[in-house]
Order: sequence, then structure tokens, then C-alpha cells
Amino acid sequence: MLDRLAIELNETLDSSVAGSFLSSFGRRIFFPKGIVAQSAEAGAKAKRHNATVGLAKSKGQPMYLTDIYSYFKEDLLQPSDIFSYAPGGGDKELRSAWKEEMIKKNPTLKGKLISLPIVTGGLTHTISTVANLFFDEGDEIVCPDLFWDNYELIFVHAKNGSLKFFNFYDENNHFNVEGMKQALLDCKGETARIILNFPNNPTGYTPSKDEMLKIKNAIVEVAETGKKVLVLSDDAYYGLFFEEETEKESLFAFLADAHENIFAIKGDAATKEEMVWGFRVGFITYASKSFNDKHLDALNSKSLGAIRCSVSNCDRPGQTLILKALKEGKHYNEDKEKTFKEMEARYKIVKKELENYRDSKLLKPYPFNSGYFMAFDTMGRSAEELRTYLLEKYSVGAINIMDRTLRLAYCSVEQENIKELLSLVYTAAGEIWT
Ligand SMILES: Cc1ncc(COP(=O)(O)O)c(C=O)c1O
Repeated sequence: MLDRLAIELNETLDSSVAGSFLSSFGRRIFFPKGIVAQSAEAGAKAKRHNATVGLAKSKGQPMYLTDIYSYFKEDLLQPSDIFSYAPGGGDKELRSAWKEEMIKKNPTLKGKLISLPIVTGGLTHTISTVANLFFDEGDEIVCPDLFWDNYELIFVHAKNGSLKFFNFYDENNHFNVEGMKQALLDCKGETARIILNFPNNPTGYTPSKDEMLKIKNAIVEVAETGKKVLVLSDDAYYGLFFEEETEKESLFAFLADAHENIFAIKGDAATKEEMVWGFRVGFITYASKSFNDKHLDALNSKSLGAIRCSVSNCDRPGQTLILKALKEGKHYNEDKEKTFKEMEARYKIVKKELENYRDSKLLKPYPFNSGYFMAFDTMGRSAEELRTYLLEKYSVGAINIMDRTLRLAYCSVEQENIKELLSLVYTAAGEIWT
């Protein structure tokens, strides 16, 4: 039995592209006018006694363990900044600040209708929430054949659907726009879903400005055939672009108002962008040419419902600290710049060192220009064999992906050690395969 609120939200969303993508869970879910909504209402109006929230309070502040609070500077953070629940959907100021930053980083978004980002428990939670809302058992989602392995866990094993692959690179070693378009056209039925991640994990690739335009145009062409297309941009490593010709804006910015049949979703997170890997703060943002404010409100309610019934509420201290850094951080730009420069320096060393192995017939680096990683095609030989050999013989840790790709996270290797790391990888390949 569908709740009346869910029915109302479905009716609203059915007049937009989003209605075509709602899963059976997505159709059932809503944000109830229960404890959270009533508490929010009381927070604004119950000036005498507010007996709504299950939170031990005294003198207007949550009660707390001094052993924890003493690790924070008392004059800088109130107990409520650390110990209280965050509002459903996340701290309002943080959501606005994140949106403001998003538009600054993606000027193409200026003036376009996009939702207020919803706070999640990290980008993984963003992807799984999107999967819960818009992906049903048996559905397929298009994905390049070099991808973050958690997509498989989410869409295949958790949701019982499938990943529909196309080759990441074309014969000219560029992003395979034609392959992507064909995979979308080949999707069964009237809808197609795709997840794209730039800078990419594991390849470290981001399309050039020209390629990104081609990607956008190809998706628009698919939409023009009448197919409805959901595009989830996974922007986990946003900002780490090391080459001039690389596109510096998210695909989301180009798709936000591209076509009525395109449903654009941006998944991003403070995790890597703000270097707070353990905080668990991510975001979901929605846009489509077919949306008005009512559609965005309905999507907000659906998403809040999905979060409420899973983790209920996302990390409060993390949200507070990220907001403080964004709004009043004294070293924010300086620290980010320092990290960027360090990653860029490591990237350049990796590029230069790889020149020495250009003629290798054993390992072929995939094109890369951004992010944290580079990866090798093991040319038909077992990447797992190489990984275990490197670990056992040389105490070098790398990642095997589907037994045909070896990924190096050069982001976590000091500049002075990169030369040796690459040398050991090629030496090990030579020892086991020649
Ligand atoms: C491509 C990609 N997407 C999403 C994530 C998840 O990020 P989070 O730690 O915020 O869940 C990662 C993390 O490794 C990633 O590599």
C-alpha cells in the first residue's frame, strides 16, 4: 500500500523525466511528517518547551562526555555543533555553501535550475541512494569497462541488476564516445542509465574539453531519439586536473539543462575534495530541463526518505568542520593548493619516468591526465599474478582490477620514491613474464 505522501510525490515526478526512473522502492518512499519533520517545525516555533527530539539536553545544549568535548576547542565549537543531530538532508548552511562552490567551480551551471545538494554519508552512500531510488532489480546501467569496483557491489550484487560495459578508450586512445552512445542506444526499453567518473578511478583519465562536448552531444542525441537517459556523474576526484586541455567542469554542468529526456545527477563529496576521507560527508544534486521547483522538492523528499530509512542522519561533526573551513578557513585555499601542487608534481614524475619504459611489451599505461591514479593494461597476462609477486618479492602494494589492470595510487607515494616504484613494477613484470 502506497502512502498518500508517496503517491503525491510520484504524481509530481511523473510529469518529469525522473518519474520514468523511479524504482519500486523509489515509488514507495517519502519523507514522513514524523519525528524529524515535526522536530524541525518545533525547532522554529516551540519557544516555551521543545519536547520533540530524543537527545539529552541541558541549558539549550546537548549533554556530552567531556572526554570527547575536550578534544575540541570549547570556545570555537558549541556542543550542538558536534553532538546534535544534523537536520534531515544536512546542515542548511553547508548545503548552500556546497552549491555556491559548485557553481563557482562549474560556471556553466550559472543561472541553471539545480537542486540544493543533499548531504549523504559519503559518495558511496550517494551512489547507493541513487541506486535505491532509480534502479530496480534486473535494470542495467552503462559503465566503461575500467571502473571503480564498488559499482559492481552496488548495482550487481546489492541491487541484482547489471553493468553494461563499453570499452573505455577508442582506437585513438581517447574516451570512447561512440561506444558509450551505442551502449546507451542498446539499453532495453525506453530508458537508459549511465555512470561516468572523471577524473577516473582506476585510469586517472578526464576527457579533454573537446571530448567532453562530444560526450554531452552524444547523450543529447540519444535523448533526441526519445530515450530517457539518467546520467550519474561521479565526481569523487574533482579538481585534480593536471593538463591544460582537460575539461575542468563536471559533465553534470553540461547536462543540467541539455534536454527534457536527460536526468542529470551529480555525486560528489568532501571526502577527497576537502581531504576528509574519514568524515563521511557526500552530496546528491539533481537537474533536468524537465524540472521545476516542485520536481526538485519531490526529489528532495524522496532522497530524504531514502536516507531516513537507512542511516537516518549523517555525520554532524564532519558537516560542522567542513562548513567552517569553507566559510571561514584561514588556510583553506593555501592547503588545497599545496596538496594540488604535490599531486601535480607526482603526476609529472610518473609521466616522465614512464617514458623510460615506452617500448615495454609487458605493461601498457592507459592514457591519464588527472586524479590520484594511473593504471597499466597487463596485455592479456594476469594482473593478480603481478600484484602478488610485487607484494611478496618486493614489498610493493598495488591493486589488481579484474585480472587485466594493475592500478598504482601515486597519490600516496612520495615524489622521491616514484622512480623506484615504477622500476620495480617493470622489473617484476619482466621476471615473471619473460
Ligand atoms: C570513483 C569513486 N567514487 C566514489 C568513491 C567513494 O567515495 P567516499 O569515500 O566518499 O564514499 C570513491 C572512493 O574511493 C571512488 O574512487
